[in-house]
Amino acid sequence: MSSAPPHGRVAALVPAAGKGERLGPGIPKALREIAGTPMLVHAVKALAASPMVEVVIVAAPEASVEEVRSLLSQQEFSADVSVVAGGDTRSDSVARALISLPDDIDVVLVHDAARPLVPVEVVTGVVAAIRDGHDAVIPVMPVVDTIKSITEDGQILGTVPREQLRATQTPQGFRREVLQRAHAEVDSSVTDDAGMVESLGIAVHAISGHEEAFKVTRPLDFLLAESIIAKRRVR
Ligand code: CTP
Ligand code: MG
Repeated sequence: MSSAPPHGRVAALVPAAGKGERLGPGIPKALREIAGTPMLVHAVKALAASPMVEVVIVAAPEASVEEVRSLLSQQEFSADVSVVAGGDTRSDSVARALISLPDDIDVVLVHDAARPLVPVEVVTGVVAAIRDGHDAVIPVMPVVDTIKSITEDGQILGTVPREQLRATQTPQGFRREVLQRAHAEVDSSVTDDAGMVESLGIAVHAISGHEEAFKVTRPLDFLLAESIIAKRRVR
């Protein structure tokens, strides 16, 4: 894309419609509490903590749209927050939020509700990199484990060199028209929005992520999240 970098308003889309199957049975993951507050509320606060983010659109589980609306309306956020019904896959949920984006937005972040504690520096860093002229930006972290490829019956096929591997986090940031084109043209079986943009042949730029932007996936992750919140309160 060759036009001038975007300098208009920034919106964040928050896919929050997942079930949280890896956490085990219970309410939708985004509504589970960390230190007494639903994960989604932490995530919206974390985004709105950046003065750059003016609009937040949450894609909630279809059956919980009213509950999520009422939950979020009880909070004070320094951004305009609205709620739409999510879809069957993460990418459907993002697509549904994308449809209700106001016209005057030209930078779009996509942020997992399941990354409730993303530090504001990561959010601001992603927006800054888009405003510097990148079409798409993702925060990444080095991979700490040695990665093997294996067969279904447990035979090791090889060790994947780790130096070039990175684990991706969110928010992922996009120039609006790039994200819209990706959702219009790319098969949504690609697992993240940046992957959809890559398959259009558009360069995606990586910046440093943060260990506190980890994704709450398994039960043990709540312990880590609660410790981070406790540590922040002490400071
Ligand atoms: N998500 C979504 N719509 C879906 C599936 C996922 O909006 N149909 C969201 C989740 O709510 C989450 C983010 O995408 O904020 C990342 O997904 P993941 O961590 O996999 O969450 P879940 O799908 O809820 O968890 P699991 O895969 O364990 O069921
Ligand atoms: Mg999932």
